[in-house]
Amino acid sequence: MIGVFDSGHGGLTVFRALARRFPRVPFVYFGDHRNVPYGNRPSDEIVALTRDGVDALFRRGCRLVLLGCNTATCVAARTLQKDWLPVSGWTGRNILGIVAPTVEAATQTPWAVTAPQYPQRYNTDVIAVFGTTRTIASHAYPEEIRKRCPKVTVVQQTCAELVGAIERGAPEDELDRLVAHDVTALLAQTGGTPPHRAILGCTHFPLVEPLFRRHLPPFTRLLSQPEVVADSLEDYLQRHPRFLGEAADAARSPILLTSGEPARIGRVARIFWADAPAFDHVPH
Ligand code: DGL
Repeated sequence: MIGVFDSGHGGLTVFRALARRFPRVPFVYFGDHRNVPYGNRPSDEIVALTRDGVDALFRRGCRLVLLGCNTATCVAARTLQKDWLPVSGWTGRNILGIVAPTVEAATQTPWAVTAPQYPQRYNTDVIAVFGTTRTIASHAYPEEIRKRCPKVTVVQQTCAELVGAIERGAPEDELDRLVAHDVTALLAQTGGTPPHRAILGCTHFPLVEPLFRRHLPPFTRLLSQPEVVADSLEDYLQRHPRFLGEAADAARSPILLTSGEPARIGRVARIFWADAPAFDHVPH
């Protein structure tokens, strides 16, 4: 079984793409709705909450857990992979994040390659990153991109209000105003130079991708994180088939777990995934 952990609903955009891409692989999603949002929390809290979420998914029988959340990945993934997992008592398990596949797609460089692959003189692209306060403050995206492409300019923009507005089902004109504000603020940083690529570095943002498309310059390429992550997981599972477990003969219904109230979660979940199955409660 493969687990996907997120602070709440946002990871459903990634989870839905994975469930569609691998219909016979058993997936379980855990949204920490009791503690959402993570985006403005102190780092040590994000690490502790993410660790407990991963632990809950391991206890549920997952051997592989994907952090389907940019904030949790940027702040907690490395600490959990390097410091916690080896002493956790869980053997033969692994934790993946969603920054690595996104950086691979943005730089066209494998994650394992942590230095420029060829002379970078001509690779002077501008890459935009939109994310939560904590994702942007972590500098994970600029650091990882510049290791591989040192001449690339990475411009970051915090989208402080967008997650909350999407979760409360704000009307399109309000969402449009927020996206326009964030894109304008980003373009002010580039001095008007259109970014070559834009990373929507928050799992909520695929839901407002058409609004980003509308306000970004026409030739800025948007990286769609759910598809990028599904491509990357496909590649990973080909190289590590032991994490696939027993693929069923027929399509499986994915399991959704929440630390919140299932009755209250369902309505918002359908903003993210119209035909999402019902959530079950687990303590967290
Ligand atoms: N899922 C989170 C992300 O991708 C955003 C939601 C939150 O702040 O908890 O960054």
